[in-house]
Amino acid sequence: MSSDSSSPQSSMVINEAVKTLREGGLVAFPTETVYGLGADAKNPDAIKKIFTAKGRPSNHPLIVHLAAPDQFDQAQIDWVPVLAPWARDLSEDALKLINAFWPGPLTLVFKKDKSVLTELTGGQDTVAIRAPAHQIAQELLRKFNGGVVAPSANRFGKVSPTSAADVRNEFEGILELMILDGGDCEVGIESTIIDLSSGDRAVLLRPGLITPSEILAKTGIKVHLPGESSISDEAADLPRVSGSLRAHYAPNTPLRMYAPGMVLDALSEFPDTKSRVAVAVWDSDSSLGDDGHPSVYFEEVIIPSDSVTLASRLYRSLRDLDQQGWDLILFPEPPAGEEWDGVRDRLQRASFGSGPSSSSHANS
Ligand code: TXA
Ligand code: MG
Repeated sequence: MSSDSSSPQSSMVINEAVKTLREGGLVAFPTETVYGLGADAKNPDAIKKIFTAKGRPSNHPLIVHLAAPDQFDQAQIDWVPVLAPWARDLSEDALKLINAFWPGPLTLVFKKDKSVLTELTGGQDTVAIRAPAHQIAQELLRKFNGGVVAPSANRFGKVSPTSAADVRNEFEGILELMILDGGDCEVGIESTIIDLSSGDRAVLLRPGLITPSEILAKTGIKVHLPGESSISDEAADLPRVSGSLRAHYAPNTPLRMYAPGMVLDALSEFPDTKSRVAVAVWDSDSSLGDDGHPSVYFEEVIIPSDSVTLASRLYRSLRDLDQQGWDLILFPEPPAGEEWDGVRDRLQRASFGSGPSSSSHANS
């Protein structure tokens, strides 16, 4: 954890960050989900620096982050002029979603305005937008007075950072980077992404803290899963959401999931896996006991059995475990239920892409 996590970043430092963005530089900043690696959304050279720094293929589009208008009464915020320079065809549903969840961990995909740079949309005619809720992110965006593209501030395919120190570790020796320190991220996994660009239906592209049920309850809008869409999934093979690659969010240590009560079975599937294994166990479960495995040293790591709390600590745990030199990390499969979709999605991709030879698993 960063030492000054509770002290808000001073105005002077934020002014410096704004200057860096205006000059085409990169600034890492906290959001309520994960830390972002920011650049001026109107500057093609600055956008290129992001792809280079992350090692990210240039056809993976970025999210534009916008400031919420400075208003006393959140309910009175008029988002239309904020979005007008970026998105076309704002539907009634779009405005309902925005009014219900912005600023917050929800990204919406729209048909893009002509002026939006194709460098940031990966050549697509749509643009992803979100207004983050974190106070430092909002102050930065308000002072910058423009859109800031910001992918998660990690190297491509790796675990997203949830503290300033994580960002520093991620780019150590690769990039001199200005990092605004906002302490630990509260949500801990990336924003929910909903595609509104087809006009008539909302489609979930990435699960997150905000679930389809919550959206239905607050707005009456039914969110469809990509598979159940009636529109053709002609773009299914395109990396529209980089997190949609099977391998992503991955630690260097091999990570696997085990079904309830099946730790030993999980282990026997990996006969080549050696001696030191970290086994994550729900805090609601009794411990594994000593009925270990003759050739394996286990250590239990207690994890929260509440989905929101686990999400907030998931990447922290993966990073910490990765540092500890285990031969294998085992996580329990999350239970069924929509509130677990965000964590399940990240764990599945992390386990698929994990291990030192992760690049050989990647499907891109
Ligand atoms: O919580 C978040 O969303 C964080 C923080 C920093 O805001 N950002 C983040 O960015 O997760 P990134 O780049 O790591 O993931 C954003 C995802 C990408 O996988 C990208 O493919 C998808 O959003 N995306 C961006 N533009 C899109 C578009 N036009 N259509 C579909 N997906 C899009
Ligand atoms: Mg990312």
